[in-house]
Amino acid sequence: MENRSQWGTRAGFILAAVGSAIGLGNIWRFPYVAYDNGGGAFFLPYLIALFTAGIPILIMEFTMGHKFRGSSPLTFARLNKKSEALGWFQVFVSFGISTYYAVIIGWALAYAWFSFNLSWGSDTQAFLFADYLQVSDPPTQMGSLVPGVLFPLIIVWAVVLSVLFKGIKKGVEAANKVFIPTLVVLFLIIVIRAVTLEGAAEGLNAFFQPNWSQLTDPTVWTAAYTQIFFSLSICFAIMITYSSYLPKKSDITNNAFITGLSNSGFELLAGIGVFSAIGFVAVTTGGGIDDFAGAGVGLAFAVFPQIINEMPFLNGFFGFLFFASLVLAGLSSLISICETYILAFQEKFNITRTKAVAIGGGLSALISLVYATQGGAHFLTAVDRYVLTVGVGLGGLLEVILIAWAIRKVKTLKDHADGLSQIRLGAWWTICLTVITPVLLGYMMILQLKNDFTAPYVDGYPLAVVGPWGMGALALVIVFAVVFSLFKWRGGKETSVNSDKEVSG
Ligand code: ALA
Repeated sequence: MENRSQWGTRAGFILAAVGSAIGLGNIWRFPYVAYDNGGGAFFLPYLIALFTAGIPILIMEFTMGHKFRGSSPLTFARLNKKSEALGWFQVFVSFGISTYYAVIIGWALAYAWFSFNLSWGSDTQAFLFADYLQVSDPPTQMGSLVPGVLFPLIIVWAVVLSVLFKGIKKGVEAANKVFIPTLVVLFLIIVIRAVTLEGAAEGLNAFFQPNWSQLTDPTVWTAAYTQIFFSLSICFAIMITYSSYLPKKSDITNNAFITGLSNSGFELLAGIGVFSAIGFVAVTTGGGIDDFAGAGVGLAFAVFPQIINEMPFLNGFFGFLFFASLVLAGLSSLISICETYILAFQEKFNITRTKAVAIGGGLSALISLVYATQGGAHFLTAVDRYVLTVGVGLGGLLEVILIAWAIRKVKTLKDHADGLSQIRLGAWWTICLTVITPVLLGYMMILQLKNDFTAPYVDGYPLAVVGPWGMGALALVIVFAVVFSLFKWRGGKETSVNSDKEVSG
């Protein structure tokens, strides 16, 4: 019998789940994804993806973790022995994401520091790429370590690993109890400031203005599903892991609705804040919204500094609040991403938590150094595209096909959730998981894979970058998933669902 950790309180679990969900994906990714994919019209696919896939899968994953009480590989192994590799696939997708997610938080930490004296100067674009990241040209070149990226990265890992070493209740739960309320307060201040800036209405108009014709484009729908999955932390092992620490009596369905709706609420708030600020900078500099709503890295780390430069007063203070919010949101998500492999290693090899944190977290930290080199930003883009977009989507598709069709466990899971919740899962849940999500997601993944493997040029990068760093990383994830599923479970855990004794801690 083994002592299993458990969340201290229901609020503690919800804060940790919301903390995992709200991350870089909400503040940095959502606004430009929405804008790029039809603006106001994006909300339709977004809401469809949320209610037909996001929340149903979240409920399913909470139920799986709660019922089978294990990491993702252990949960899948207990569901059906042959499905363990899928659990490992999701865990290694998370591992891959953790290696570069930490680096982006490191950039945000550096920028929080730069805010004090607006050290990015007036050419924020040049500062980001040439002075701060010192990006290599050609992009295949790794170059040397960049100290300005390396030092904050070390701080990020020191914080994350020390929280993880402390365990679930004293580490993860306690950290989220501080991070999430602080994040909400900081972010509300920024959003209120942003919507009261001159030009905010123009920005919001652009953000909410629907471009209906884009809805016929399948990539808009893929973008909505990927955003929902990444943002809700589903389909890459996190929510299965977190819910495995729930006490026996837990209202799973209710917890899932609270988590899902809080996450989307925050996402919308981030969109409103970011676009109000973009409206402001467009009006004050005489540019168009399109000039600023650039994709990805540039939005948070080049456009935002420019917005902060233009603010009428307390520029440094608002800059600090914005980047500190990114850091807090990122840290609470990174902790959950790392927890997936920490618990998986701990259970599979029957090692202590301390050892699992040291090995899993240590390895990820070591690999993350690659992105602190001059070529790092290029490699990061390729890994992000294949490991995150393809890996998370594929992990989700295989999960629903497995549960709904291959081993047919939807009813078993439904009965488990219904036995614990005030909210009954009606036909809506079953239809979403068995028909709507597999069909829509399956169709989209085929298009996405076709595109990513026949025209593999992410953001114009050559195959020499996308091949090893994108496709190569995804191939490694698959190989590791298969190899790890072949190892024996030390201690025969995969057969004993109810033998674990629970402790708070
Ligand atoms: N859900 C986390 C995010 O949005 C991973 O960044």
